[in-house]
Amino acid sequence: VHLSKATFTISAPDIRRLPEDTGIEVAFAGRSNAGKSSALNTLTNQKSLARTSKTPGRTQLINVFEVSDTQRLVDLPGYGFAKVPLEMKKKWQKALGEYLEKRDSLKGLVVLMDIRHPLKDLDRNLIEWAAESNLPVLALLTKSDKLSQGKASAEVLKVKKNLAPLNADIKVQAFSSLKRTGAEQANKIICDWLST
Ligand code: GTP
Ligand code: MG
Repeated sequence: VHLSKATFTISAPDIRRLPEDTGIEVAFAGRSNAGKSSALNTLTNQKSLARTSKTPGRTQLINVFEVSDTQRLVDLPGYGFAKVPLEMKKKWQKALGEYLEKRDSLKGLVVLMDIRHPLKDLDRNLIEWAAESNLPVLALLTKSDKLSQGKASAEVLKVKKNLAPLNADIKVQAFSSLKRTGAEQANKIICDWLST
């Protein structure tokens, strides 16, 4: 698998509009502004495959990128803070929840959290849900370039310790789209999931 082969397939407002639920999908989830779209671009080596923005709530639809006929990457709408009307927020959160619960082809979940404030309640809920659902998780601690290497490593350890009691398939990796920190490691894990 080469993630750089990814091409944009579709933006769907809800799961009914997604491609057929066959093959393997790896989804990127996290709070608004956590760096999901940036990470997708970094991992696929494409500058503007997924749209990024300084304004939280940029990704409002389920964006699908095809790596091959049977392998897809999915950029999910961010949860948590978003300066949008409540009705709209509810709509995306519903799409997100439905996607996570119903999508059979979902085989791995990348959870992106800003390394400076990881494991907020919603992040924890999502990771606990994945653990109970036996869905492997890669927790990417994003924007690691904002911390010294020592502080970043300490944060990774803290998150690992915090999640250890869940006894689940959860990997934790410091990540920076700016510096490509952790990109190789993340790439390998995602390609493994896509090849199962
Ligand atoms: P939504 O689509 O709104 O949910 O956000 P997102 O999670 O897709 O975040 P996005 O990738 O759009 O990035 C949000 C902001 O963080 C942008 O201003 C990015 O430039 C910045 N950012 C993302 N990754 C990094 C990183 O590794 N380092 C630094 N310093 N900034 C980053
Ligand atoms: Mg986005």
